[in-house]
Amino acid sequence: MPKGKTTVFFCQECGYESSKWMGQCPACREWNTFVEETIDKKSAAKGGRVAAKTTEAKTVPLSQIEMTQDKRMSTDMKELDRVLGGGIVQGSLVLVGGDPGIGKSTLLLQVCRNLSEKGVRVLYISGEESLQQIKIRAERIGTFGDSLALLCETNLDTIKSVIDREKPQIVIIDSIQNMTMYNEEVSSAPGSVSQVRESTGVFMQIAKGMGISIFIVGHVTKEGVVAGPRVLEHMVDTVLYFEGDRHAAYRILRGVKNRFGSTNEIGVFEMRQNGLMEVENPSEYMLSGKPEGASGSVVACSMEGTRPILVEVQALVCHSNFGIPRRTAAGTDFNRVNLLMAVLEKRLGLKLGDCDAYVNIAGGVKMNEPAIDLGIVLAIISSYRERPIDEKTICFGEVGLSGEVRAVSMAEQRVTEAKKLGFNECILPQVSLDSMKDSGTVPKGIRLTGVRSVKDAMDAILK
Ligand code: TYD
Ligand code: MG
Repeated sequence: MPKGKTTVFFCQECGYESSKWMGQCPACREWNTFVEETIDKKSAAKGGRVAAKTTEAKTVPLSQIEMTQDKRMSTDMKELDRVLGGGIVQGSLVLVGGDPGIGKSTLLLQVCRNLSEKGVRVLYISGEESLQQIKIRAERIGTFGDSLALLCETNLDTIKSVIDREKPQIVIIDSIQNMTMYNEEVSSAPGSVSQVRESTGVFMQIAKGMGISIFIVGHVTKEGVVAGPRVLEHMVDTVLYFEGDRHAAYRILRGVKNRFGSTNEIGVFEMRQNGLMEVENPSEYMLSGKPEGASGSVVACSMEGTRPILVEVQALVCHSNFGIPRRTAAGTDFNRVNLLMAVLEKRLGLKLGDCDAYVNIAGGVKMNEPAIDLGIVLAIISSYRERPIDEKTICFGEVGLSGEVRAVSMAEQRVTEAKKLGFNECILPQVSLDSMKDSGTVPKGIRLTGVRSVKDAMDAILK
């Protein structure tokens, strides 16, 4: 080993550093994620020098800090703007993570298209594709303005000097795992934890120092040689994850962290022949193809950020042929489904112990808000009793262990969304109904049935 170098082990999932190899990461509890990397002792020593200097820094009272308005730029994609908290903030560092092939490069190239048409200076740096490959993709997406510049480069020093020279307003780095610093301080391979971290640090300095907004693409890897974006989450301003089934057409862009807006916002897109299309009314999209008159299907409402989204919850309960019943949950939490089934068994006396049960959120989306509990419960009851639920009925509410139906937030928005989509009955927690009545905000034109327990809810659908 060269002089001055030491070996450390990094967790590829969360970036935890250890001097020895471990089977399980003590920080994120993932197994078999440690990889060996060499780092320079000198760079560790440098940290100490910086610390000594900062002791001279001055403190500032909160009242003396001047407020400056965030400068935001619209991407002309409503779905993306919402997830970003209202547009791209100047000087922000945004990480776009997702599985390979999900559409990250396509999304960002579309951002380039929209911005370059407005004359914003954009620099797209690709370390993965050649200029020809980008051109082929761009042909499918549409027409671009002349203010878009492309660069195929992975060397960070070269990139830095190009940014210095060109002074773009927006920079896109595709992807961070390909970026390398030919620097004596970091000698490990591209994509390793220390390379990815150091490179992100450099982009952070460029973003803050020059007021350039930078988008960084990061591939999510479960068991790969490259470090996942989770290692970087704490370093950047905003973290967006692009998710969805690669075989299905729709994609969901989810805000996981946002220093400039609320998280939990989602944007829905559909992958078409000519790029990503925004889906402005996701509920309609999610409910298309819902069966009519089938048992075990009900529409529930989940809030994703500020937006209510209606989804179809399906359950199939059938007699089990084996000693241990089979249970699966797709699109929602498996343990939650088991818990709700136990509640039904105990509080309503349903003999679910002899039954296989399969619960699915149709459309392949993942919904984990407790408000869909009532949907899961009613779908299971409907399938168990072989009684279809009226197609124009929607439900939401959290179910507790005593079988009580508890209040959920933003009941009014949920009811309004259901009404807008033509539903004429809503089963909701009595407490939420009462509080809407108290504040005089009960939406008109839709029948509201307040329920206090799973027994009430069952009676409401089996009447
Ligand atoms: P891509 O943006 O390359 O994914 P990532 O950068 O996240 O790895 O997306 C590639 C997939 O999208 C690929 O399977 C082809 C598909 N695609 C379309 O269906 N339509 C299109 O217009 C484009 C550009 C890509
Ligand atoms: Mg790509």
